Formats: sequence, C-alpha cells, structure tokens
Amino acid sequence: MAGRSILITGCSSGIGYDAAHALHRRGWRVFAACRSAADCARLAGEGLHSVRLDYANHATIDAALGHVLTQTGGTLDALFNNGAFACPGAVEDLPVEALRAVFETNFFGWHALTRAVIPVMRAQGHGRIVNCSSVLGFVPMRWRGAYVASKYALEGLTDTLRLEMRDTPIRIVSLQPGPITTRIRQNSIPHFERWIDWRASPRRAQYESSLLARLYTDRDKPDRFELPPSAVTAALVHALESRRPRPRYRITTPTRFIAFWRRVLPASTLDRFLARAP
Ligand SMILES: NC(=O)c1ccc[n+]([C@@H]2O[C@H](COP(=O)([O-])OP(=O)(O)OC[C@H]3O[C@@H](n4cnc5c(N)ncnc54)[C@H](OP(=O)(O)O)[C@@H]3O)[C@@H](O)[C@H]2O)c1
Repeated sequence: MAGRSILITGCSSGIGYDAAHALHRRGWRVFAACRSAADCARLAGEGLHSVRLDYANHATIDAALGHVLTQTGGTLDALFNNGAFACPGAVEDLPVEALRAVFETNFFGWHALTRAVIPVMRAQGHGRIVNCSSVLGFVPMRWRGAYVASKYALEGLTDTLRLEMRDTPIRIVSLQPGPITTRIRQNSIPHFERWIDWRASPRRAQYESSLLARLYTDRDKPDRFELPPSAVTAALVHALESRRPRPRYRITTPTRFIAFWRRVLPASTLDRFLARAP
C-alpha cells in the first residue's frame, strides 16, 4: 500500500486520529483533516500531513481537496468520511435548526466531499470511499434522535451509491461501529447546551435522572462492550486493502447482536429491548 493516498476527516480525536496514525504507519500517504488550525498544527507536529476541513463550511471542503490533489498530482486512492457529532436530547425537544446543524455536518458535508472525490476516482480508474456509519444507522436509541436520523440517512445514501457504483471501479463501504472509546459524548455537550432547553421539557425529570448524568458525571464511564478506536481501524484497513471489500463492516459485539435481533425479532420486542439503553 506504500504511497497510496487517503483523505480522512475528523482526525483531531477518536477514530479519525487512530486511523490516520495507523494508516501512516502502514505506508499510506495520509491527509488527516481537522476542523481547527490548532489541531492541524498538532497533527503536523506528530508527523502527519494535516489539512483543514469543516463539513459545515463547503469552501473548506473544496480547498482541502484542492490542496490534497495538488500534493498528489491529481489523484486520491481513498476517502474516509469520519468527522461527525451528536446533539443529545429527546426528539420532541429538538429544534429544527439543531437537526439542520447535525445534518449539515453528518450528512450534507459528507455528500459534498464524496461528490467532489468521485470524478477524481473515475478519472484514475479506481477508488474506495468508506463512510463511518454506526449501529445507530439501523436501530434507534432514546436521546439520540438527531444523530440516529443523520446515520439512517447516511445508510440510505451509502447503500444507493454502492449499488450505482457497481459499474465503476469505485468501491463504497459502510463501517458500523457500536460503542467505541472516543470523545464523542464529551464533544456532544456544547451542542446539547446550545439547542436543548431541557428545563422546559415535559421530560425534565428523565433528563435529570438519566441523560444529564450520562453527559456530565458519567461521561468518562465506558459503555458495555466498548472497544478502542483500533477496532474500527482494523475494519477500515480491510475495507481499503483487501481485494474484495465487504459492503459493510459490523464492529463490536452489540452491533452484531443487534443486527441479528433486528432481523429475527418482532419490532415491538426489539423496541422493548432498545428502550432499556441509557
Ligand atoms: N464513538 C462511538 O461510539 C461511535 C460509534 C459509532 C460510530 N461513530 C462514528 O465515528 C466517527 C468518529 O467519531 P468519534 O467517535 O471518533 O468521535 P470524536 O472523538 O468526537 O471525533 C469526532 C471528529 O469529528 C470532527 N468533526 C465534528 N464536526 C465536524 C465538522 N463540522 N467537520 C469536520 N469534522 C468534524 C471532530 O472535530 P473537532 O474536534 O473539531 O470537533 C472530531 O475530529 C463519527 O462519524 C461517529 O458518528 C462513533
């Protein structure tokens, strides 16, 4: 894989950070994108080639890809759409603008970058586009409606693109991690505080007994069956380097069990089980 190029978004922490370093060590030419200049500088200090990209700002998408193509001479072997965030809160308390903000990054930004990359891959005659979806791309969980909606939408678009791209040499892959040890919960707090008026919610008591603890006091407490980001990176490596990448990779025990239960259980039984999640 020496010299193969990949653009990875959301590399300031978590899965993107781990993937960028791991692929760099494997000989990939990694372009590790971060939202902030400070994070780009930090990653550059660690020996990575870093570039600024904020999915919510389409000018930065164009500029980042333009920079990458200048460096590579106009080619890009792979794209890992990864940067995303959550805005916890009950669906009935979720302002439309909050939902729009989540979709702007988690969905529209990914689509904009993907559309910009496809012509490059068509011209060079190969390419892999890997999207970091989630177990929450095919089952819901309480308090996570905005994030769940964005990942369900992503699954629909990714599945359709994969079918359409069968007549091209471009492979489309979805990663579906369950709980992974990252900063995603901590990073969701500013969005929760900006958008969710939980004190005025009819569910105020539930916020106080459940979500607030999860966000503020237990935020470093791991979920059951949580795995490190390297578990996602291992699937990413297979998706990028194997001759026949799988359409989707189910990562962690909960993802695999829930995918099975979703197939075999009646919806009402699955709902009862999912409603127990914190
Ligand atoms: N952790 C899990 O349990 C889990 C499970 C399933 C799927 N995932 C998925 O894994 C991916 C990575 O998340 P993570 O768990 O590694 O969380 P994380 O540590 O919070 O990392 C998220 C990354 O996304 C970046 N990001 C946020 N908004 C962005 C924007 N507008 N444009 C570009 N990048 C942006 C963040 O940058 P800043 O630092 O600048 O905010 C950060 O680098 C996400 O797609 C997430 O949905 C995570």
